[in-house]
Amino acid sequence: MTIRKRTTKIVAKRHDLNYFKRMSPVRAWQWWLAAVALAAATLWFGTTTLVRGGTLLSAGPMSSSHAVFGERCELCHVPVVKATNWTPGLGLRRRVPDSACLRCHVAEPHHPAETTEHPKCSSCHEEHVGATHLAATKDAGCTQCHAHLEARGGAVTVAREVSSFAGCHPEFRPLRTETESERAAATALVFNHAEHMKAGLKGPSKPVTLACSTCHAATMGTDGRQGDGMQPVDFEKSCRSCHSLEFDRHLTAQAPHKSPEVVHAFVVASLAEFARSHPQVVAAEIRDWPRQQPLPGMVAMATPRNEQQWLQVSVMRAEAILWREKCGLCHRSDMALPTDGGLPKYEAVSQPAKWLPGAVFRHPVHRAVACESCHTKALSSVGEHEVLMPTIATCRRCHDGRSSPQGPALAAGHAESGCFLCHVYHGHEDAALTVAGLPLDRLARK
Ligand code: HEC
Ligand code: HEC
Ligand code: HEC
Ligand code: HEC
Ligand code: HEC
Ligand code: HEC
Ligand code: HEC
Ligand code: HEC
Ligand code: HEC
Ligand code: HEC
Repeated sequence: MTIRKRTTKIVAKRHDLNYFKRMSPVRAWQWWLAAVALAAATLWFGTTTLVRGGTLLSAGPMSSSHAVFGERCELCHVPVVKATNWTPGLGLRRRVPDSACLRCHVAEPHHPAETTEHPKCSSCHEEHVGATHLAATKDAGCTQCHAHLEARGGAVTVAREVSSFAGCHPEFRPLRTETESERAAATALVFNHAEHMKAGLKGPSKPVTLACSTCHAATMGTDGRQGDGMQPVDFEKSCRSCHSLEFDRHLTAQAPHKSPEVVHAFVVASLAEFARSHPQVVAAEIRDWPRQQPLPGMVAMATPRNEQQWLQVSVMRAEAILWREKCGLCHRSDMALPTDGGLPKYEAVSQPAKWLPGAVFRHPVHRAVACESCHTKALSSVGEHEVLMPTIATCRRCHDGRSSPQGPALAAGHAESGCFLCHVYHGHEDAALTVAGLPLDRLARK
């Protein structure tokens, strides 16, 4: 029996050492396919560049507001090489200059006098990240400046270090800086909330317990729905029932709640009318005058000798009550009240519609929360001129930084806390569209 020798040489001979120099059918096919794919890609690349100007790759789904323009890439993307008469616009249309956005939008720059740099629109309004709210910008867009704020040509007038609402954000300005006299000057009214919120307050006929809504009604939006703020307090609706403006024991009429000039004219006219229609009463009073008590704080009133003088004295007496005890209960006056029949000058009342003008706030969104949970001092404050605005700690109970724009779904128990929620960046609340009425063909395909 012969044993077949299995040397390496013999084994090696079985293989064709030049196999790689010849083209196997499979290999040939591979080459062909690769070449065809490359050619097709080049052709597609070339034609799309020429025909559509080179918007090739989609970076991701459009925001819901712009989705309708999604097919019209050129509304935002501008070619790198500008089109001429001879060439179409070339280059991948990668650039999205601010001018493209500003063709459709008005977006005022932020504090143009104080900032030098204006970040690109797309650095804050991220496109191609899906159906998110495009205006829900990330905090980084703001904190790039506000974490260490610098203002051009002069001192920064606001807090310099603001990095997040839940972390580093100043207490609201009126609570931080306002003194009692500044607070008093804000409305020029005398009013004590705690006093009026006591249960069983003396009412017109029986004890009552007032609600915030007795005096504060929500504003109406232009669309007829509840507006963001509260209407100014109205004397006629909320005060007169308990603080009536009677001025003479003979009359049931009350003074109008108007300027002292109007009130004076009304008082004179009503007393003159009374004297005309009740001559016997007037005559009896002139006769019995000494028995009447002089009013405190008044110059001694000469005894009236005729109807004319009776009228003068009665007007002075009525106005002494009004100016001091009635109007003077709520209105402050810089000057001493007149004692000679002149008219008083009260400080002009103002009821600011916004106490925190640097931010947006909407009451209707928060209607689930009781008024006094935010305006805690409205029940407890004994000082007349305390600011009743909620502290930042109150807001942070819900706006606690545990959810972020475009981040994970809101976690239960937490409200959004991004800067965009509460602040206006563009100087006005509704950055608007400038273009309107474009032909449909320019906006959408199909
Ligand atoms: C409403 C405006 C808008 C429209 C319409 C739009 N894009 Fe964009 N796109 C942007 C913005 C903004 C960027 C971010 C680029 C920047 O910061 O300059 C961007 C980025 C891109 C990028 C990434 C570019 C890069 O340099 O990283 C691609 C790719 C892209 N878009 C493709 C498209 C395509 C394809 C279409 C049409 C189907 C389209 N876009 C339509 C606004 C738009
Ligand atoms: C062809 C016109 C057009 C262009 C170009 C355009 N937009 Fe818009 N944009 C619209 C329309 C229409 C809306 C939706 C209607 C509205 O909000 O008034 C909108 C909405 C928005 C909103 C509000 C979205 C929201 O969720 O509330 C922002 C922010 C915005 N655009 C920013 C941009 C930026 C940034 C660019 C440039 C990258 C841009 N737009 C380019 C037409 C345009
Ligand atoms: C530093 C970040 C930032 C930059 C840069 C920026 N925006 Fe805004 N933009 C915001 C924020 C925050 C809001 C939402 C608050 C507001 O209305 O001011 C907003 C709102 C808007 C709105 C209105 C959205 C609505 O719901 O009504 C439009 C439109 C808009 N921006 C367009 C632009 C355009 C165009 C540019 C570039 C010229 C630009 N933005 C640059 C942050 C920015
Ligand atoms: C390019 C830098 C820059 C960016 C980005 C920036 N700010 Fe400002 N911001 C300023 C300057 C400067 C001032 C003015 C400071 C002063 O008056 O001393 C200011 C003032 C403010 C004020 C106080 C005055 C006011 O308007 O009530 C607020 C609030 C504010 N910015 C919010 C924001 C928000 C929210 C963002 C992001 C959407 C933002 N800023 C992005 C530079 C910037
Ligand atoms: C939940 C609402 C809310 C959020 C979120 C918020 N702020 Fe404020 N911010 C306010 C209020 C309210 C004020 C007080 C405005 C006033 O006093 O007129 C204020 C005041 C400011 C001021 C002026 C500070 C001063 O010196 O009086 C700046 C600057 C500011 N915020 C920046 C930011 C920045 C940046 C962010 C995001 C990191 C942010 N805010 C997030 C509500 C908010
Ligand atoms: C009897 C009428 C009356 C009632 C009831 C009343 N208010 Fe007022 N409120 C006023 C008047 C008047 C002013 C303006 C005078 C002032 O500045 O104190 C005012 C001002 C305010 C202000 C703005 C001033 C500031 O310092 O912040 C707030 C907030 C407020 N009230 C909240 C409340 C709340 C919350 C309640 C219920 C717990 C309430 N008010 C109940 C009459 C009333
Ligand atoms: C339900 C009845 C009632 C209503 C409504 C009412 N008040 Fe009073 N008010 C009182 C009572 C009771 C007192 C305390 C007794 C007194 O001095 O007459 C008082 C006291 C006052 C004082 C003096 C407080 C002090 O601390 O010295 C002022 C100022 C005042 N009210 C203003 C107002 C204003 C402004 C309104 C309307 C916005 C109003 N009140 C609505 C019942 C009312
Ligand atoms: C119980 C408190 C109270 C009394 C009493 C009172 N007022 Fe007023 N007054 C108010 C309130 C609250 C306002 C703001 C709301 C309004 O106009 O109804 C006001 C507003 C006014 C205004 C308009 C605001 C301005 O400054 O431009 C005038 C004028 C005025 N009062 C005059 C008088 C006169 C004169 C008297 C006395 C006859 C008087 N008031 C009595 C509470 C009072
Ligand atoms: C979530 C907290 C919160 C709740 C709840 C709340 N407020 Fe306010 N309130 C505020 C803030 C913040 C402001 C300042 C708004 C501004 O300046 O834009 C304000 C302002 C006011 C003002 C001053 C006038 C104005 O419109 O700015 C009055 C009055 C007022 N609130 C009454 C009420 C009454 C009444 C209720 C209950 C129906 C109530 N608030 C519930 C936070 C709250
Ligand atoms: C009980 C929890 C709670 C408290 C306390 C609270 N908020 Fe809110 N806030 C919410 C919720 C919930 C929303 C709706 C969130 C959303 O639309 O994403 C909201 C929305 C807002 C918005 C956006 C309004 C809009 O147009 O959608 C602003 C601004 C705001 N809050 C400011 C404040 C300020 C300032 C305070 C403190 C004075 C405050 N919030 C206190 C729960 C709260």
